Order: sequence, then C-alpha cells, then structure tokens
Amino acid sequence: MSAGVGEADGLPVGSLICPEPGERPDLWSWTTLRRPDGELEIGGVAASVLAREFGTPAFVLDRADLAGRAQVWATAMAEEFWEGYGMAGGDAFYAGKAFLCSDVVRVVSQAGMGIDTASLGELTLALRAGADPAMVGLHGNNKLDEEIELALSAGEGAGIARIFVDSLGEVEQIAAVARRLGTRARVMVRLKTGIHAGGNEYIATSHEDQKFGVSVADGSALEVVAAISARPELELLGFHNHIGSQILGTEAFVAAVRVVLEFRARVEREFGLATPEVDLGGGVGIAYTGVDAAPTPVIEVVRAIAAAVREVCGELGTSIPRVSVEPGRSVVGPTTVTLYRVGAIKDVTLEGGGVRRYVSVDGGMSDNIRPALYGAQYTATLANRLSGEAPVRCRVVGKHCESGDIVVHDVDLPADVRTGDLLAVPATGAYGYAMASNYNLLAKPVVVACEGGRASVVVRRQSMEHLLELDVQ
Ligand code: LLP
Repeated sequence: MSAGVGEADGLPVGSLICPEPGERPDLWSWTTLRRPDGELEIGGVAASVLAREFGTPAFVLDRADLAGRAQVWATAMAEEFWEGYGMAGGDAFYAGKAFLCSDVVRVVSQAGMGIDTASLGELTLALRAGADPAMVGLHGNNKLDEEIELALSAGEGAGIARIFVDSLGEVEQIAAVARRLGTRARVMVRLKTGIHAGGNEYIATSHEDQKFGVSVADGSALEVVAAISARPELELLGFHNHIGSQILGTEAFVAAVRVVLEFRARVEREFGLATPEVDLGGGVGIAYTGVDAAPTPVIEVVRAIAAAVREVCGELGTSIPRVSVEPGRSVVGPTTVTLYRVGAIKDVTLEGGGVRRYVSVDGGMSDNIRPALYGAQYTATLANRLSGEAPVRCRVVGKHCESGDIVVHDVDLPADVRTGDLLAVPATGAYGYAMASNYNLLAKPVVVACEGGRASVVVRRQSMEHLLELDVQ
C-alpha cells in the first residue's frame, strides 16, 4: 500500500503529511499528497478548492482508493477460494452500514463486491443504485415484514442472495412472507459462537450476553435449524458469524471458522442437511492514528481463513463450503477524510499549570460520534498550508453544546494554527457519515468523491429546508 505522500513532488514519502513525528502514511488514502505549495490534495483536488466549492465540514472520499480496496477484497476472496485450489468459491459483500450511497454501491459492485444491508433504507438504496440482487444480503436482529418483503421480491421476484435469520421467531416470520409472496427464501443462520473480538464492548458481537444471533452453546441455533428444515418456504444456505469490529490479527477469525464449521458438520450429521455456504462477517481493523498498531493486511486475513477452512473441513471430513465475508470499515474507512474549517481557538490552563489549546471546528459529534461513543482516537493535520512553527498540543473540538464533543483528543498542530485554516481528519470513511445526526440541528455534511482531479458530490449537504422539513409549524 502506498499513500503516494509527497512522492510526486520529490518530497520524502510520509514526512510532510504527518502531523506527529513518526506518523505513518497509511492513515491517508492512496492519492492523498502534500503539494509543493503546502496544500493537501485528495484525488487530485486541493483542500482549499474543495472547501470553497463545497463548503465545510465535508467528507472527502478518494474514489480510486475505494475501488482499490474493494478490488483487494473481491480478488482475495475469489483467488483464495478458487475451485481450482479445491475450494468452493469465495465472495466479499461490502457492509453498507459503514457508509452507503449510490456512488459507493456502484464503485464496490464494479470491483466485484456484493452489498450487505441491515435495514429497509440500506436495502432500498442498494437496490435502487443497481446492486445485483443476487449479490445482496439482509441482516437485522429485529426485521420488519417490509424488509423481508423487499428482500424476497427484489430482482423481479427472484429475491436477494440471502437473509440472515437472527432468532427463532424470525423463521416463521420469513416463511410467512415467502408464503404470501408465493416464493422461497434463501436463509443463513447467524450464529453466536462465543468468540468475540474487537476494540470496544459495544462493537464486539459474538459473546453470549448480547442481542445478535442464536447460540451454538445453549442449543438455540440447533432449534432454529430444526424450525427452518420444517418450512418448505425456506432454503437453508448455511451459517454466519460476525465476531466484532476493528479486529487486528487473524486468530479470532480462525477460531470462528472452527466453531462455525463444527456446527455445520453437526447439522449435517443430525439433520442430514448439507449446507453449501458459510459467511464470516466483517471486522478487519484499520489505523486511525500514528500510534495504532499496523492493521493486518486483507490478504493475510483471507489466507488465514482459507487455510482454516481447508484444515477444519479436512478434520471433520465434510465438504468445503463457499465462503463469504462482509467487510465494511476496511473497505471504506481509510478512503475518506473530513475537512473542517477552524473557528474559535482558546488556550486553557490545566491543573498543574500546563496549557491545552482548544481548536474548534465547524462540525463535531454530529458528523463523528465515535470519539464520544467509543473513546475513539483520531488525528488531524493542517490541510490548507504547511507551517514551520513549532507544534503545540491541541484538542480539536466540535461546535456542539457538550463537553464530550471532541473530534481529536490530542494532536500536535503548528503554533500558528488560526481561525480560517482547514483541518483534515483521516480515516473517517466508516461509521462517520453513517452515524451522523442532526444534534443541535446541525445539517449533515456533504460527501464529495474525488478522482483524477475532479470532485463530485455523492451525498448533498443537508439544506436548512430539509433539516426543518419534519417540524410541524
Ligand atoms: N457484518 C455484520 C453482520 C456486522 O454487524 C458488521 C458491523 C459488519 C459486517 C461490518 O463490520 P466491519 O468490517 O465494518 O468491522 N459503529 C461501530 C462499528 C459497528 C459495527 C457493526 N457491525 C464503529 O464505529 O466502530
């Protein structure tokens, strides 16, 4: 992976873009570079041009980077699970919850990924944007009939690729909708495997005491399989497990493969039901700041999963299933920076005498809730210019009425950082816009995709009219 930082200008790679000494270029999208005039450029478009044309805050998406990351996933799955290697095929579905808009659907679809959705809104958007229904999945621990109806009637009645069953009650719910529509539903059972991993309790999803999936350990998963096999409207494709998010290393994925495949073998033994597929969810982590551990390369994760599938199926004496994954963060996270305009600046005297400089920007927790929600750490850099001034310790904060409204807890910015400057915060592509709110009635930012020197709006900035539309006067 090359960030291309400064390379084009003959400047040392990674040296100028990094706000902190030693910070790495892999925090930034592939085409991000620092121009000779000191400006940050993304997809060939300068930060100040973006701010002038589209305003701030703005999410700036590097489209070539997104296409590249999607291709890496799609190709790795196709190659490592290639039939010619004795495997049964592999697919990558982009987890739309990380960030979904029509442009992203088109880019990742063209790169060979399917789309994983988790609500009526996500499913509708994906289908409207032209996602192939045969490469679309539907998740959710509390599905609406409307969601299931759309899933089963998409693609001129052929339905989407698979619906993930999340509870016993849902078996009859899906069967009833299928009956009503005179069709069959392809389903996979979302398992709770007891393996959980990831950065935060709220984003780890496969331990027992949480709402997703049905437990392998307490027998609920088998009960669900029995219920599915008794319904002619349902075709059991296989099993799914998502172990959490922001996971580094391959160990947890390998452990999940074993539990899922052992369960699959048990179903085959006890019910005589051979299932053709397994899905191992998403969860591959990315770097957010210069002090984060290096993320595990996608190919390493995929190879580890493939090796484990081969080994465990060999041990169990079962057929090898088709394998899919649902990455979100690792596809879109590093593709995007948020551009903010600096407003108020104040120095705050700390207990013990130190000073912290509070640099306020024109967004905050309404466009990035992750620091407040998970204690997530980010970094930032001056985007409109370079400065030779010595760095000062800053905290970048938003404009919301809440002291927890922090964008970057701690970052060195040049001492002459001033009102009107632009700040870029990298790695905001996943769960940034997707979790944006209108807190304090701030409008949602624009999302601009840049590629080859051209910038285009892919999600419009929310207008005041749209913001107030639902208010009954
Ligand atoms: N598949 C399923 C069933 C999931 O629940 C998720 C994420 C994914 C795939 C994609 O996982 P990824 O590759 O993006 O880690 N809002 C949190 C993350 C929540 C993840 C929810 N599920 C955050 O901002 O960190």
